[in-house]
Amino acid sequence: MQPYLLSLDQGTTSTRAIIFNLQGQPVGTSQRELKQHFPADGWVEHDALEIAESALAVCRDVLQKTGITAQQIAAIGITNQRETTVLWDRKSGQPLHKAIVWQDRRTADTCLRLKNRGFESTIQQKTGLLLDPYFSATKLAWLLDNVAGARARAEKGELAFGTIDTWLIWKLTGGRKHATDATNAARTLLFNIHTQEWDEELLRIFEIPASLLPAVQDSSSDFGDTETSLFGAPIPIGGVAGDQQAALIGQACFKPGMVKSTYGTGCFMVMNTGQEVIQSKHRLLTTVGYRLNGKVTYALEGSIFVAGAAVQWLRDGIQLIKQAGDTEAIAEETVDSRGVYLVPAFTGLGAPYWDPHARGAIFGLSRDTGIGEIVIAGLEAVCFQTRDLMEAMKKDGAGQLQAVRVDGGMAVNNWLMQALADIVGVRVDRPAVTETTALGVAWLAGLHVGKFASLDAIADLWHCQREFTPRMPMDKREKMYAGWLDAVQRVASKSV
Ligand code: G3P
Repeated sequence: MQPYLLSLDQGTTSTRAIIFNLQGQPVGTSQRELKQHFPADGWVEHDALEIAESALAVCRDVLQKTGITAQQIAAIGITNQRETTVLWDRKSGQPLHKAIVWQDRRTADTCLRLKNRGFESTIQQKTGLLLDPYFSATKLAWLLDNVAGARARAEKGELAFGTIDTWLIWKLTGGRKHATDATNAARTLLFNIHTQEWDEELLRIFEIPASLLPAVQDSSSDFGDTETSLFGAPIPIGGVAGDQQAALIGQACFKPGMVKSTYGTGCFMVMNTGQEVIQSKHRLLTTVGYRLNGKVTYALEGSIFVAGAAVQWLRDGIQLIKQAGDTEAIAEETVDSRGVYLVPAFTGLGAPYWDPHARGAIFGLSRDTGIGEIVIAGLEAVCFQTRDLMEAMKKDGAGQLQAVRVDGGMAVNNWLMQALADIVGVRVDRPAVTETTALGVAWLAGLHVGKFASLDAIADLWHCQREFTPRMPMDKREKMYAGWLDAVQRVASKSV
């Protein structure tokens, strides 16, 4: 009997391993923080070897803690921070440089140059993405051009590129497998989401040798077995997906029109669009939701950079609160924001504005503004930004949403979830298991080894813990949202 699935969730700030039973309930967790490196303004790096070591350590730790053996694990699923780029030597397995993290802005000028040469529309049409340093291609080109000898060695086929999933698969299989899944490939700017192949024209535009690239597989497929020496017995790796797509799966959003929204440091809202590729006209991203048995389910994604980070700022930046959890009680004791708006554009604005030069502001202060009003404004900013994404999705042709499935650290805040329902005017559903990212790839891995018959069987395992129904009168909701739009307008870089 193999009654468990092991999920490895390699995120931006930590690496976690979670063991799930076949009902999708977590039975053990282990976590390690990851060191962040900031070598220059706007640069963010991770040590790829530290990532691999932490992955191994948390897997071993959770097995040891729970007393579950490798033989009892039916399969491993891997989910990861997306876009982050690693370049390594195929022979020694040594990275040539630190990994360049998705947040890193060092290639902003390269993107601008390519934009000025008129490539953005081709790139957007083929990849569903925008020409932005967020994605992998310009990071990889930077490594090839800035690490001595890298480009020549790449031309000779000595090097391998991967996003974090690929790097971990390579390490866990002892270098036997160089592969990624379609959701991760779709974030590189090199992958054509229509043909599901690495695209020669894109490789030429970004000057990337094809020999570097991993094989692209279905999200639920054979990614190799782990080396026997690592856990005492080989374990098949059967599921791989980028973390936001994994959450879409973990939230069982398998039907077109279903939406999940994850509230961590930032917020990522992803909508299943089925077999239809919706090319966004409102600067959302078109991406692969998952690929099963060669069939692609597409998604529309909106990313906002600051959600939980606004609460962190209230706590650590201006020290209005002691702990993030205090915001719930403070908001409950306060009547409302009294017209105060906090626009948390600390690192610019993400979708749908994509304004890297905007900066944050608080508007509407009066003599009776206190900590409570500012805290509420911080929480409401998360709701207003979600509404921005939803409006963009609607303009791109999505119909009226039935509900938004929420997860991530902030989803535990009941006050916030009610405010979210009120401001977006749609029911908010919080699942019983909020570890949806890890759960999503556990399900993919289980699907591959035959533990689940179908996506429908998986959807039956998803349970709602609490529904939040909109209570705010429509005119109040619209008035508040109009105030937000006005505040955003005032922080836009063009208005300065
Ligand atoms: O696109 C970046 C995203 O995948 C990072 O997610 O949860 O590691 O911050 P997270």
